[in-house]
Amino acid sequence: MIDSLAQAPAAEQPVLPVGEVTSPEPAPSRKARASRALRASGKAQARRAALAGLCMAGWSASVLVGHNMDTAQEVHRIGLAVHILALVISFGTILVIDWIGLLWLMGKREIHEPGRLESAAKPLIWGGLAMLLASGAFINPDLGSIPTRVKLVCVLVLMLNGLAIAPLMHWLLAMPSTTRFGEVARGLRARLMVALTVSQACWWTAVLIGLLNSTLRRWTGN
Ligand code: HEM
Repeated sequence: MIDSLAQAPAAEQPVLPVGEVTSPEPAPSRKARASRALRASGKAQARRAALAGLCMAGWSASVLVGHNMDTAQEVHRIGLAVHILALVISFGTILVIDWIGLLWLMGKREIHEPGRLESAAKPLIWGGLAMLLASGAFINPDLGSIPTRVKLVCVLVLMLNGLAIAPLMHWLLAMPSTTRFGEVARGLRARLMVALTVSQACWWTAVLIGLLNSTLRRWTGN
């Protein structure tokens, strides 16, 4: 039964205060391990902060360029085709991963399957997102429209949420393969559910507003 983060890999493990060591293990080796874990955890946090900065920079660039550039009709057509292709790559992958996660929740898949899939599919998700940001800038987003603003906020939130999910996946991968959802620590379970809900809510909102904007644009002929 797993009831704490004790199964987490070194990079994410909470470090025991050295004075509280009770096991027969020699003190220096325990101390060295603790400081190694602390360094690794610091590095992982710094890496996540840098990636969050990169996401915000990419998002800001896309919004600023999109707002200030009026593209020709041909460029708009190509941009929209790339936008739809990127959507299929990125959102399609997310749907499969979340579906496997749901199957694990229902006890029909092993705990490692969603994490392994997520790790293998990272280039598709993030590559697709980069393409969505780049192509979005070339299809004349109307920042005066409230739905478009909501959509863009959702895009930023879903990217930052994607980064926040990474350590949760590491913890799942560090657990025995037969672990059921109910056996995972309550805090981790809650964080997984929140991350999954935010991910699905933001993706679907962005997709539906995108489709709505496109349909309205075609209907009104703008
Ligand atoms: C997760 C990211 C995103 C998703 C899921 C998404 C989704 C969509 C979808 C489904 C469409 C409708 C495509 C069609 O069938 O015609 C669309 C259109 C559009 N998207 Fe996005 N989008 C994303 C990011 C962005 C960004 C970052 C921008 C701008 C900075 C943007 C600007 C637009 C615009 C302006 C349209 C309307 C294009 C037109 O019809 O002329 N999108 N988006």
